[in-house]
Amino acid sequence: MMPAHQPAYDPVEVAALQPAAVDAARDDAVSAIAAAGSLDELKQVRLGHAGDRSPLALANREIGALPPQARKDAGARVGRARADVAAALAARSAELEVAVEEQLLVDEVVDVTTVAAGSTGARHPLTTLQERIGDVFVAMGWEVVEGPEVEAEWLNFDALNLGPDHPARSMQDTFFLDPPEAHIVLRTQTSPVQVRTLLARHPPVYVVAPGRVFRTDEPDATHSPVFHQVEGLVVDRGITMGHLKGSLDHFARSMFGDHVDTRFRPSYFPFTEPSAEVDLRCFVCLGRTPAVESCRTCKGEAWIEWGGCGVVNPRVLVACGVDPDEFTGFAFGMGIDRTLMFRHGVSDMRDMAEGDVRFTRAFGVEV
Ligand code: DAH
Repeated sequence: MMPAHQPAYDPVEVAALQPAAVDAARDDAVSAIAAAGSLDELKQVRLGHAGDRSPLALANREIGALPPQARKDAGARVGRARADVAAALAARSAELEVAVEEQLLVDEVVDVTTVAAGSTGARHPLTTLQERIGDVFVAMGWEVVEGPEVEAEWLNFDALNLGPDHPARSMQDTFFLDPPEAHIVLRTQTSPVQVRTLLARHPPVYVVAPGRVFRTDEPDATHSPVFHQVEGLVVDRGITMGHLKGSLDHFARSMFGDHVDTRFRPSYFPFTEPSAEVDLRCFVCLGRTPAVESCRTCKGEAWIEWGGCGVVNPRVLVACGVDPDEFTGFAFGMGIDRTLMFRHGVSDMRDMAEGDVRFTRAFGVEV
């Protein structure tokens, strides 16, 4: 049997759908969203006020039970309230995300001017040695000059009496810049600074030119495609081989101590005549006789090559516009990397290029 009276389903009597209740649920939600101080808090607020069990979600469920004519109003009311809550959530979420990013920028800020505790940066030992070498010569009244690392082929070779057929000019030793017709190279030696100096000024000239040089060598314990030389050049009246020997002995003693022994060995360089190679007596086995065959430093030779030198070839003077009847000169070119290796017992050239602070720290911190 049907009940005698079936009351109409009145939405106004469904408490959750009453306008005041819907507005209150929305206002609660909006103020909780505004009060959320972090994205985590907002997540909780979202669950409580916009989740499946939130007052507005529950109210929404009641709508289906309303008679058709009542659903439209109630649906619109709840829909508006839920849209307001969703908009408030989105706006607050955006605000909090910006705040998080701003805080990150503050927290992760790196002050590159701060001195890091315990590890002050320092110049590389090759740089400081290069300057020390300059000082040795400046103390004798010489000047330190410079030349470019990217050099004209003519200055690197031709002007130094290294003719086009000289083996050192072959592609294997030299880095050529494109296009090859431009005849520009990475300098293979500091000797072109001799030519630049003589072209730029009139003798007397007393200069040293330390700097980086380049050759197409594979890196190993004793070779590197980038290394350092110091060039020396003196051109004046009455300069002899004796002046060369005296200057180099002084240089050697400044680098390796008063007891260092040097020797000149006849050699050939196109830009000097006569030419010599300068050797240092091995500082490890001290070059005793008979030679210590097992010495890893000099390989039983008792002597170690330090560089080349000689009396400036008159052809170089002529190429630079200097009268060889009036002026003579001497020149030398020493390896700075080798000098550092001998001074400090470094056995592998690669250690000097790798930038590992465990290597450089041993030389002290000189800024
Ligand atoms: N430039 C030569 C080289 O790289 C070294 C050298 C030898 C320089 C003799 C000189 C010199 O000034 O006179 O092998």
